[in-house]
Amino acid sequence: MLSIEKYQDIFVEYLQDYSTVKEPENLYKPIVYILSLGGKRLRPVLTLMTAEIFNADYKKALHAALSIEVFHNFSLVHDDIMDDAPLRRGQETVHEKWDVNTGILSGDAMLIMAYQLFENYEATTFQTLVKLFGKMALEVCEGQQYDVDFETRDDVSIAEYLKMIEYKTAVLVGTAMQMGAIVAGASNKDQKHIYEFGRNLGIAFQLQDDYLDAFGDPKTFGKQVGGDIIENKKTYLYLKALEFSSEKDQRQLKTLFSISPNNSQDKIKTVKQIFTVSGASNATKKAIQDYTVKAFSVLDLLNISEDKKDLLKTFGNSLMNRTV
Ligand code: IPE
Ligand code: IPE
Ligand code: MG
Ligand code: MG
Ligand code: MG
Repeated sequence: MLSIEKYQDIFVEYLQDYSTVKEPENLYKPIVYILSLGGKRLRPVLTLMTAEIFNADYKKALHAALSIEVFHNFSLVHDDIMDDAPLRRGQETVHEKWDVNTGILSGDAMLIMAYQLFENYEATTFQTLVKLFGKMALEVCEGQQYDVDFETRDDVSIAEYLKMIEYKTAVLVGTAMQMGAIVAGASNKDQKHIYEFGRNLGIAFQLQDDYLDAFGDPKTFGKQVGGDIIENKKTYLYLKALEFSSEKDQRQLKTLFSISPNNSQDKIKTVKQIFTVSGASNATKKAIQDYTVKAFSVLDLLNISEDKKDLLKTFGNSLMNRTV
């Protein structure tokens, strides 16, 4: 096994070879742009790491790792259109730098490219990967639709929110890991367990993303802080704040989240105050920890060395403490 940083370096080098601008430039330039903006590369690193955890050479998993990162970046290009987001990784989003149509088509091309990368595997592995990937990709669409639907609903439950983030985010993390296991020829049982580990970690990850969206440092976060509040996103923070607040604060929160999106700093300030005072912010931190611990408990079911389990735990803990 290598270190997490080493897997990152190897992946980025491989990605750079892959990213070339072809004609027409207006299709491919945005693709190279978004892929080269950086990001944590956590999904491809998980694919490579998982392949090695199940005793394969990471090199076998490079195509699958790239596929998952290309898919992830596709989903971000379209997500930024849907969320009307100006910033991604500290830079202009694709639809801001070019325009919405460019974002749509370059995103579509990336989704196709993600599938094409599976052509590098022989027939049985190809079929297994495509099957898993297709299920995941459709679930991500379902999660994204729930996310949008919830913006204009005022009766979203915590259970619905958890399902939404499982679909829009966590299944991709689970899939990233299961793909590494598939390439390594791991048993079906091990594949399921590692998927479960990734899924729980993914839920913690999205809870943390929602937390940082409100409370992150604008200098380092790389996205517009308060973006979810502007867009009336029904996050865990919001739902817990409603649950814990006085009737007066509940009414204010509901009113603030019924106005159509506008960049009001007053709204952001008031909402963040309610998130903190109500205890919703602490409840979110607790939930992040709980889902991370839940992920770790799945590791007990895996027949792998303690060293490997420790590496996965280090990874999970580093995600919990991230600021980006
Ligand atoms: C952003 O994912 C989208 C979410 C699911 C929260 P990341 O936070 O992994 O984005 P990058 O790739 O590191 O920029
Ligand atoms: C992203 O959720 C989920 C997908 C892109 C599928 P968010 O909308 O919270 O992600 P960010 O905050 O824009 O990265
Ligand atoms: Mg978004
Ligand atoms: Mg979104
Ligand atoms: Mg977010």
